[in-house]
Amino acid sequence: MNFASDNVYGVHPKVLGALAAANEGTAPSYGGDVYTAQAEEKLKEVFGCDLRAFLVTSGTAANGLALSALTPGYGAVICHAEAHIAVDECNSPELFTGGAKILGLPAQGGKITPALVEKTLKGFIRGEHDPKPKAVSLTNATELGTCYAPHEVKAMSELIRPRGMKLHMDGARIANALAGLGVTPAELTWKAGVDALSFGATKNGAMMLEAVIFFDLPLAEDFAYRRMRGGQLMSKSRYLGAQMLAYLEDELWLENARRANRLALRLRDGLRQAAAIRIPNPVEANEVFAIMPRGLYDRLLAAGAKFYDWMPDSLGDAIAPDEVFARFVLSFATPEEDVDDFLRLVAKG
Ligand SMILES: Cc1ncc(COP(=O)(O)O)c(C=O)c1O
Repeated sequence: MNFASDNVYGVHPKVLGALAAANEGTAPSYGGDVYTAQAEEKLKEVFGCDLRAFLVTSGTAANGLALSALTPGYGAVICHAEAHIAVDECNSPELFTGGAKILGLPAQGGKITPALVEKTLKGFIRGEHDPKPKAVSLTNATELGTCYAPHEVKAMSELIRPRGMKLHMDGARIANALAGLGVTPAELTWKAGVDALSFGATKNGAMMLEAVIFFDLPLAEDFAYRRMRGGQLMSKSRYLGAQMLAYLEDELWLENARRANRLALRLRDGLRQAAAIRIPNPVEANEVFAIMPRGLYDRLLAAGAKFYDWMPDSLGDAIAPDEVFARFVLSFATPEEDVDDFLRLVAKG
């Protein structure tokens, strides 16, 4: 019963198989191989547009490197207060951007709104004494298991574009967002005004694979240098390309995400039956957050379940001192019976 994260699970067998197949013979190094080239072509097909895609090995690297193309060191990137770039990456975005300010705004449900961003931008009145607002970063699906719909992404883009700012999307769980929203990759990204996307695959079936995707092509200029300098140009890049091809083939990525999301809804429905549990946010992807008494939390952990006591910052008074804000993450590989076994434990109280 492991709901600690989606990255506690392994690699999808089709991705592993593709790695073994790519292991035959020799291949040009540093991205000159056919797998890497085909992966970029496949991503163009998936997103239905021209784009530039750069494969990297972690979401943290994808975010920091992507943002480095969007802002100089004197810039500011506005995001949610609990965004991964703000609180989970040990200042890596600041390092890669050469010092840009990552400005996290507290907001309900893991989502910032154009109104909140507009209000924040009004505070930048001191010229060069403030950092220059250069980008907004939206995490989709969010850190709280909610999603930005295409119209919400578009509204943000429409606010910031006339101000010369760029829109980044942290898509560590974009497959889950797409599956939850039932929209196309194009609708959620470039058609809604996203300029650069950190396209996650690791959490949803790959081994170690993310892509930095630029829809705004001039942003990709010199990105190869940024990636190299960041230590993210793999000499054996064929293994990244092969993972990406298998991940996208026959919509494996979306199938995996749909399964994880379906299990999240099953868990949510079961948890809702327990009188002592409240679910404060809509479950729109593969994560469930539940407020529960600490006693119950401790008993569930003692019974062998694995899940986290998450940060309750965004909940304010909605959580009592003897309660826990528990996070459950469902994966493409979470056994269905684990959800049922866990719900039986919850029902026992
Ligand atoms: C929303 C989000 N972005 C980025 C990352 C970073 O990914 P990685 O752990 O591969 O660096 C994570 C990982 O948990 C995440 O949840």
